[in-house]
Amino acid sequence: MQEILNNENNQLLTNSYHCWLQYRKLENAEKYSKIASTIAVADDTVVINSAVNELKNALNSMFDITPSVQPFPTNEYSIVLGTYESVDLEEFGIARELFSNLNEEGYLLKYAENQKQVLLIGKTDQGTLYATFHFLRILQREESIDDLEIIEAPKNQLRMMNQWDNIDGSIERGYSGNSIFFNDNDFTNDLTRVRDYARLLSSVGVNAISINNVNVWDIETNLISEKFLPKVKEVADILESYAITTYLSINYASPMELGNLESADPLNEEVEKWWAEKVEEIYSYIPEFGGFVVKADSEGRPGPFTYGRGHVEGANVLARALKPFNGKVVWRCFVYNCLQDWRDRKTDRARAAYDNFKSLDGQFLDNVILQIKNGPMDFQVREPVSPLLGAMKDTNQVLEFQIAQEYTGQQIDVCYLIPQWKEVLNFDTYAKGEGSTVKSIADGSLYGYKHSGIAAVSNIGDDINWTGNTLAQANFYGFGRLIWNPDLTTDEITKDWIHLTFGNDPKVVEEIEYMLLHSWRTYENYTAPLGVGWMVNPDHHYGPNVEGYEYSKWGTYHFADRDGIGVDRTIETGTGYAGQYFEPNAKVYNSLENCPDELLLFFHHVPYTHKLQSGETVIQHIYNTHYQGVEEVEDFIQRWNSLKGKVEDWVFENVKDRLQRQLENAIEWRDRINTYFYRKSGIPDQQGRPIY
Ligand code: GCU
Repeated sequence: MQEILNNENNQLLTNSYHCWLQYRKLENAEKYSKIASTIAVADDTVVINSAVNELKNALNSMFDITPSVQPFPTNEYSIVLGTYESVDLEEFGIARELFSNLNEEGYLLKYAENQKQVLLIGKTDQGTLYATFHFLRILQREESIDDLEIIEAPKNQLRMMNQWDNIDGSIERGYSGNSIFFNDNDFTNDLTRVRDYARLLSSVGVNAISINNVNVWDIETNLISEKFLPKVKEVADILESYAITTYLSINYASPMELGNLESADPLNEEVEKWWAEKVEEIYSYIPEFGGFVVKADSEGRPGPFTYGRGHVEGANVLARALKPFNGKVVWRCFVYNCLQDWRDRKTDRARAAYDNFKSLDGQFLDNVILQIKNGPMDFQVREPVSPLLGAMKDTNQVLEFQIAQEYTGQQIDVCYLIPQWKEVLNFDTYAKGEGSTVKSIADGSLYGYKHSGIAAVSNIGDDINWTGNTLAQANFYGFGRLIWNPDLTTDEITKDWIHLTFGNDPKVVEEIEYMLLHSWRTYENYTAPLGVGWMVNPDHHYGPNVEGYEYSKWGTYHFADRDGIGVDRTIETGTGYAGQYFEPNAKVYNSLENCPDELLLFFHHVPYTHKLQSGETVIQHIYNTHYQGVEEVEDFIQRWNSLKGKVEDWVFENVKDRLQRQLENAIEWRDRINTYFYRKSGIPDQQGRPIY
């Protein structure tokens, strides 16, 4: 914690440490001041205590008072925290039945009719905590509470964060410093930031977390050993006090590496026994443990394939071990052969998740959940929705997003991903006819999944503002709010984040909102065109490298030559990937005429002179968007500069610096892409702009 404090006066270097929980002084505090002086508590649970502490600190900071905490009932004007079982609702004229339709995490916020109490009532204590954070949002935004009556419950069951943190303290694809969990091959000594992270997570409704990287290397394998389990428990207890369940990523070869067995074959009896005993041991330390996240048989990680077994056998052995404890196996579908040779133009990485898993529907135990990335490739700025989503009606599914901006600017460039995620969630898969949206798959309603939800790769590290670029906090915040309720509009989420983080100055709100809402398209404009993806430097994945796909030893994956570009994924002449979708999506993507422009090069190989639906040719579109992308970044810079003095200096400089780097990046992209395609095609820009 020390390094984020300014040593002289022990103050935080920047309020951006508190993200959207800044609890700024209210401009019109009097309208709430009656109720703010007393907190009445109806239950004494760890989670409710967290809520009480949060409320106490927030009221203190927003109203400059020290509220008194009293047991409920009390006659004072107060804010009441409790559950529908601990507070006699009828006394307030509220029917208990109100709660019968709410799931366990739901809550009621109500200004009681006597106008003496604000009720923050959860179905369980978890709901009370969420109600508290919701109420604090209302206060910070200075909304009226006169007619306050809100009933809320999350739409998705599992709302999970995946840390890609390594035990040496590094973070795979981390762009905001080092891990807050690990340091120097151990857990960090000071868990203050873990607690603050838990507050941030639960304030936006995240209820589960896996704390280590999906690539589990040697030392991380030991996280499930007696050496580390007491420390995992310490962390899990903190998280649990904010209603967040802890998971661990495991190494599939653990029975060999930890248990000295000769095999990790899931059908081997000794292996089965080893997992059963191991899980029992884990639960003896952490009774609330959530389960395992598993990346198997992908990118060099071990898995059941070594033993001639498949994903079903692989996942089910773990599921059997976890079942008695209600634990879950989150089995990732990011499985593909990274060494495959695609020169036959039929072999296609995009097909992999569907080809590997679709035929296994119905064979996994019911505590296995398949975790599927939103697109078939790897979190590109533009990809179609994965055709595996919705394709397995008898297998629990969780959707995976990436908040870490691996391919979307690495938290140097601004790229607000909520609009992208909204598109994914609203996408109609037609899996069960019209209206089979991705959000209805993730929330379990389409097929009645027992377990489902949404997970994401975290974007935080130990940078003082958590996310490197302060504007990248919006992706973290937005993820939580959106997966709580996928029907929230981008506008609502964005405005909330800006107000909570920056206050109410209309100019600040307007400029930041503009930048955020345009940033995804801007990023797309200056990077890989029309859904073709990648074109980034191999390995670190930042900056342009047109032919730079990691596994390029098989030639360029996008097949650009002097005549055209794009990957033919059609059914007739291409890889057949388009046929993995339900109709009418398959037909739409398969057709050159109907395929949406933004995905054209993902599905089709076309000449540079091909006319898009927009009326532009492909080559002219490439030139136009790349000039435009740079101009848009220049515009962002001007807008941001106009906020000098209106946002905290530290944040101003932080974003200003990143925008400058973004501009350099955008210019490099523009020049490399335009030059590459000019040289390939020999077709000049119609507007005669210089191509370097
Ligand atoms: C991407 C990323 C890797 C990561 C992998 C995964 O390929 O570059 O760092 O391990 O996704 O999701 O497992």
